Amino acid sequence: MDIKYRLGEDMFKMKQLLAILFTGILSFSLGAHAEIKLIKTTDGSEFKITDPKAFGDTKKKDNVKTKAEIEFLKTGKNIYVGDAKAEKRGKKRFGYWSCTQCHGPTAKGQVGPGLVGPTFKYPKDITNQGMLETIWFGTNGGMGGKGYGVMAADDGMTVDELLKTIAWVRTQGSQGISGNEDENMKKFLKN
Ligand code: HEC
Repeated sequence: MDIKYRLGEDMFKMKQLLAILFTGILSFSLGAHAEIKLIKTTDGSEFKITDPKAFGDTKKKDNVKTKAEIEFLKTGKNIYVGDAKAEKRGKKRFGYWSCTQCHGPTAKGQVGPGLVGPTFKYPKDITNQGMLETIWFGTNGGMGGKGYGVMAADDGMTVDELLKTIAWVRTQGSQGISGNEDENMKKFLKN
């Protein structure tokens, strides 16, 4: 075989190999950021929310992940903060799930502590993801988890309604904190 031809063929193979390698590295690094890491407030271990019934709009009851849930699982951000309609619904959920009884009707504290910050017993609660982690699995200091399936099978809050509830809590005097601030997320979360 002519040496020029063979060189060309080797170059072609090399390019193919590089392309495969590059795609692999790219999809690996994208994959690594495809999901946030949820951490239990009780023991610091990681948990995943996998039950389809833990997702979906509570009114529709279709268990189809909402836009807000998809964004939350990807970035830990709560797109309902500042969305008046979602916050209004969140306020109702706060009453429905008895948060009111322990944290007061305006979330400023009753039997349980106030939830408006800016300082929290669990510092990560300044972020929406951290607060969701705390409420989903509960704490060791007196609050049971409210996430779907945590306390009882087939009962509990969906991710969507918890995001709405947290969005409402942020309206109750969080001194301009949205819970989506990148600097706090970097400081307090393990994503
Ligand atoms: C039975 C009473 C009770 C109910 C109901 C309850 N909580 Fe709590 N909650 C507590 C107590 C007590 C604490 C403090 C726990 C600790 O110190 O570990 C707490 C802590 C918290 C914290 C952590 C605050 C911080 O400073 O880090 C958040 C957030 C929270 N609750 C939200 C909620 C929401 C939202 C609901 C409703 C879905 C709810 N709680 C329902 C009693 C309750």
